[in-house]
Amino acid sequence: MTKKVLILGAHGQIARLAEKEFLAKTDFNLKLYLRNSSRIRTEDATREEIIDGDAANVDQLEKALQGVDAVYANLAGNNIKEQASAVVKAMDSVGVKRLVWISTLGIYDEVPGKFGEWNNTTLGNYLTRYRSAADVIEDSDLDYTVVRPAWLTNKDEIDFEVTQKEEPFKGTEVSRKSIAHVVVELIQNNTELKRSIGVNKPGTDGDKPAWY
Ligand SMILES: NC(=O)c1ccc[n+]([C@@H]2O[C@H](COP(=O)([O-])OP(=O)(O)OC[C@H]3O[C@@H](n4cnc5c(N)ncnc54)[C@H](OP(=O)(O)O)[C@@H]3O)[C@@H](O)[C@H]2O)c1
Repeated sequence: MTKKVLILGAHGQIARLAEKEFLAKTDFNLKLYLRNSSRIRTEDATREEIIDGDAANVDQLEKALQGVDAVYANLAGNNIKEQASAVVKAMDSVGVKRLVWISTLGIYDEVPGKFGEWNNTTLGNYLTRYRSAADVIEDSDLDYTVVRPAWLTNKDEIDFEVTQKEEPFKGTEVSRKSIAHVVVELIQNNTELKRSIGVNKPGTDGDKPAWY
C-alpha cells in the first residue's frame, strides 16, 4: 500500500527539497504541515494535502497524524524541545511509530578538534536546546532516526557520508539537497532505526566551514 508521510515544518528549506524528491522518486502521498499554510501550494494535488498547524500543538498533530505511516520533522525554534515532546506525545497516542527528526551537528560534543571548539562557541545555547529535543526523541519508544547535518549549503549536489552517534563527526558542510535525499531514503528503506546519524560532505574537514 502507498505510504503516507507527514512533513512537519513543510515550508522549511530542506523540507521543500524533500517534498520534490518524494514526489519524483517515490509513490508516497504527502501531508504538508506548516504554520501560515497560505504560503505554499501543492505541486501535485492528487498526492499532497496541506494542513495548517503548529508543531507544538498536540491536538492539531493528532488530527494530522490520522492515516499516516511516517513523520519527517524539519523544525526549528527556541521551543524545539516543546515541539519534540508534542510530536512524541501525538505519535504515541495515534500509534504512528516512524519518525525522522532533523537536528544538528555538535549536540553530543561529538565534533572533534578546532572545528568542534568553533562549532560549540558559535552555536552556544542552540546546541543545548537541540540536544534536549533530541533527548526527548531518543527517550521515546518511536522508531526514530535523528539526523545531524553539518553546516548546510544550497549547493545543487547530493554528496554525503554518514557517521554514527558513537563516532567523531566528520567534515564541516553538507548540502540541503543531500539531507533531503537522506530523509527520503530513510523513510523509503526504513533504515537507521533508533539511531542518531551525522551527515557531512566527504573531504570537507577544516577548522571552520569554507565560507567562514
Ligand atoms: N543552517 C545550518 O547550517 C544548519 C546545520 C545543521 C542543522 N540545521 C538545522 O536543520 C533544520 C532544518 O534546516 P532548514 O534549512 O530546512 O531550516 P528552515 O528553513 O529554517 O526550516 C525550519 C522550519 O521549522 C518551522 N517551524 C518552526 N517552529 C515551528 C512550529 N512551532 N510549528 C511548525 N513549524 C515550525 C519553520 O516554519 P516557519 O516558516 O513557520 O517559521 C521553518 O519552516 C533546522 O532546525 C536548522 O536549525 C541547520
